[in-house]
Amino acid sequence: MYKALVKPLLFSMDPENAHDLMRGCARGANNRAVSGLLRSICQVWDPRLAVHVAGISFPNPVGLAAGLDKNAELVGLCSGLGFGHLELGTVTARPQPGNPRPRIFRLAQDHALINRMGFPSLGADEIERRLAKVRAMLPVLPPIGANIGKSKSAELDEAVEDYCYSFRKLAPVADYVAINVSSPNTPGLRQLQERERLQALLEALQGLNAGKRPIFVKVAPDLSFTALEELVDCCLRAGVAGLIATNTTIGREGLSSGTSEAGGVSGAPLRRRALEVVRFLGARLSGKLALVGVGGISSAEDVLAMLSVGANMVQLYTALIYEGPGLVSQINRGLLEFMELHGCRSIAEAGQAWGDSRAVA
Ligand SMILES: Cc1cc2nc3c(=O)[nH]c(=O)nc-3n(C[C@H](O)[C@H](O)[C@H](O)COP(=O)(O)O)c2cc1C
Repeated sequence: MYKALVKPLLFSMDPENAHDLMRGCARGANNRAVSGLLRSICQVWDPRLAVHVAGISFPNPVGLAAGLDKNAELVGLCSGLGFGHLELGTVTARPQPGNPRPRIFRLAQDHALINRMGFPSLGADEIERRLAKVRAMLPVLPPIGANIGKSKSAELDEAVEDYCYSFRKLAPVADYVAINVSSPNTPGLRQLQERERLQALLEALQGLNAGKRPIFVKVAPDLSFTALEELVDCCLRAGVAGLIATNTTIGREGLSSGTSEAGGVSGAPLRRRALEVVRFLGARLSGKLALVGVGGISSAEDVLAMLSVGANMVQLYTALIYEGPGLVSQINRGLLEFMELHGCRSIAEAGQAWGDSRAVA
């Protein structure tokens, strides 16, 4: 139904207008009855899918990546689709409009998107209010992460205070907080991945983190292995809960569609690099921090590949646009089939079994 009817209609529209249309329809799912009905259709419940990461229990390993629901408008719909967690945002401390439109582009041949959204956000005050409201309205929700980023109007030297503002607001209403220092569309943001700046930022956030809300750091796929190594050291020292790898790439490798649009590439062309980064981080971390794999995931096999190189769970965004709302349950059913076949009792065992089967092949 999605591929035959809805997708052709949506793909005939400008990508952001299509998103706005879907968002309008999705608001109807922000009530207990509709979200619950959707969940009863889409959610794959099986204890073998559950993962326990950073002290949080997730019903399955497939989460929604940041960017689709920037302003906590789609929580009812997305939890109904059966995601194991939802990462909302990026939220900025100050409300801001983001970059001028058009700022999302489809590369249909490549199953990819380019975006240069630039963090359009209603701001941390409003998102705090919305999240508190949605939690009261929808008592059954998967874990929710708040992804926070720097306001465009904050200078790089004001970044720490800017993030701290959002953290103070959103940590109390979120299950974890993701620190976005890796989007390519806010000038200077990626410099916050450098050792001294990152250290200062993480120390300040941990200083505020009396409630010990798990903090994840989201990294770019374009960092060198040396830079990733430094980042890992910094995160270990700061005692964060984990890393999310990766954000979109500024690289254009593997694209068959000719495009000169600026922005970050997501979807299938990112898969290989994201997997490589997760493999590198997995080896460096050897279980000391949690690891969330994201980038080009569109099937159970892609999830298993991420798990086999060290991810504890995954997130996706772009494939949802191309494959439709049934994707999450399809992936979770695929994971269960694999687990059944290989006698795996947990998601970690499934990743191991996938790695072993590849090594033999
Ligand atoms: C349109 C769009 C907007 C995005 N916005 C954000 C964002 O605000 N914050 C963030 O951390 N990542 C953002 N991302 C990146 C995704 O969270 C994800 O890291 C990336 O797209 C790779 O996953 P995918 O290939 O499954 O889409 C965005 C991605 C897309 C396509």
